[in-house]
Amino acid sequence: MPASTKKVPIVRFVCTHCDGQFPKWQGRCESCGSWGTLKEVGSVAVDSSPRAPASPPGKTATFSSLEQPKKGQSHMSTGVSALDQVLGGGLIAGSVSLIGGEPGIGKSTLLAQVALEVAKRGLTVLYVTGEESPTQVGRRLERLAHGQLPATLRFLDQTDSAVIAATITTERPGLTIVDSIQTLRTLGVTGEPGNPTQIRASASIVGEAAKRGSLPVILVGQVTKDGDLAGPRLLEHLVDTVLMLEGDRSQELRILRALKHRFGTTEESALFTMEEEGLVELVDPSLRFLQERTSPVSGSAAGCTVDGARPLICEIQALVTPAGFGIPARRIVGLDPNRVQLLMAVLMRRASCRLGDQDVFVNTVGGLRINDPATDVPVALALASAMWDQPVREQLIAFGEISLSGELRPIPRLDLRLKEAKRLGYTSAIIPQSSKITFDGMEILKADTIKKALELGGLKVVHRAPSKGPSAEEREGYF
Ligand code: TYD
Ligand code: MG
Repeated sequence: MPASTKKVPIVRFVCTHCDGQFPKWQGRCESCGSWGTLKEVGSVAVDSSPRAPASPPGKTATFSSLEQPKKGQSHMSTGVSALDQVLGGGLIAGSVSLIGGEPGIGKSTLLAQVALEVAKRGLTVLYVTGEESPTQVGRRLERLAHGQLPATLRFLDQTDSAVIAATITTERPGLTIVDSIQTLRTLGVTGEPGNPTQIRASASIVGEAAKRGSLPVILVGQVTKDGDLAGPRLLEHLVDTVLMLEGDRSQELRILRALKHRFGTTEESALFTMEEEGLVELVDPSLRFLQERTSPVSGSAAGCTVDGARPLICEIQALVTPAGFGIPARRIVGLDPNRVQLLMAVLMRRASCRLGDQDVFVNTVGGLRINDPATDVPVALALASAMWDQPVREQLIAFGEISLSGELRPIPRLDLRLKEAKRLGYTSAIIPQSSKITFDGMEILKADTIKKALELGGLKVVHRAPSKGPSAEEREGYF
């Protein structure tokens, strides 16, 4: 006879931000620190009996081998070669991939291209349109296809996850695209579509159908504007692959990265530009992040960042002007503002570069977002070059992290970066003194401090009296 169990209600509040669960309401979520995000979701009856009945003694389970990509497991090409590369060859049968990104970044565009390419090969593509109407999606596809859509491309205007799962099971489409997971609803689960419980339930129902039928599914996950990975983070453990499409919507550049990949590496990334005809792969990305010019200008320096396994040559630009009244402006685009401020402080203290009373503007060329300490030296070079109005030596590239003491620290993958710089025609490179490397074909200039690096970059300290701001006459002109 089973012992009588007592059911008690627990978990009555869930954070809509991080999905943290709490027994009572509170203003601030203790898991993620968000305010006012706890929503009542009703109680869940849980067995509170102190001891659950133990399994009969001697009962064992058979164990199976670990899930591993089987040798020769075939990849299905998505028809977008850069995406295939990030996926390690293409989509695996029965796999669930999630593509996340901010609204408007190009997820639907990329998947429209994939849908067309796959359907053109005669495979059935099931495009579940929750986010937009089938007419809207159809129009976009027609535009991208320059005419008639392949007959194997089917649309499903449906948000019920069980219906979608059943359709996958019976129709067995060669590829299913769900745009987006936030619009799906699972009956019997509390909450509106888009809330964490709904997202998870819907993804697991659709994912199950994919696994059972050995069919690939791609889910779209909207990432909320404040950078919160609501979709992808919630689903990370439920899906095989998480891809993120990133970029600045006001620019054309898009980067697709794998955050998780059960069947391969997360080292690969793909760069695209958003064009009239959809997302177009950037064939030689390094070239894009440099500005073409015939004569040297002050305030510009070249560096190299590494994205996944790929070196990207980049140009940092700075503009320094005497501050007007009030607090000097610091506008930083494409780089970590805190890091740039720190580098400015090091320049002031260790290299007599008096930026304190100046308005400072720094950006990367081509919309690249850099978060790599290896570009500290080029940032410092660009700042000092702008401050002293002297161009950095021509055909020079610089590598190195800068410490608070103004010393240059070695950086990883220097060899890879130097090779890429050489390929693009740089003839000399500033590297940290302590780097143990020999490299042929470029003049290697070793610097131990930021001061030395500026000197090797062809910059001379300009001493001047602190700026008093604009004169009375200039100020008159402002009004
Ligand atoms: P979209 O794919 O709808 O974004 P998401 O699904 O991530 O929300 O992309 C929307 C933007 O892309 C929109 O501003 C228009 C632009 N776009 C192009 O520039 N070229 C194209 O071929 C397409 C289809 C969209
Ligand atoms: Mg979309």
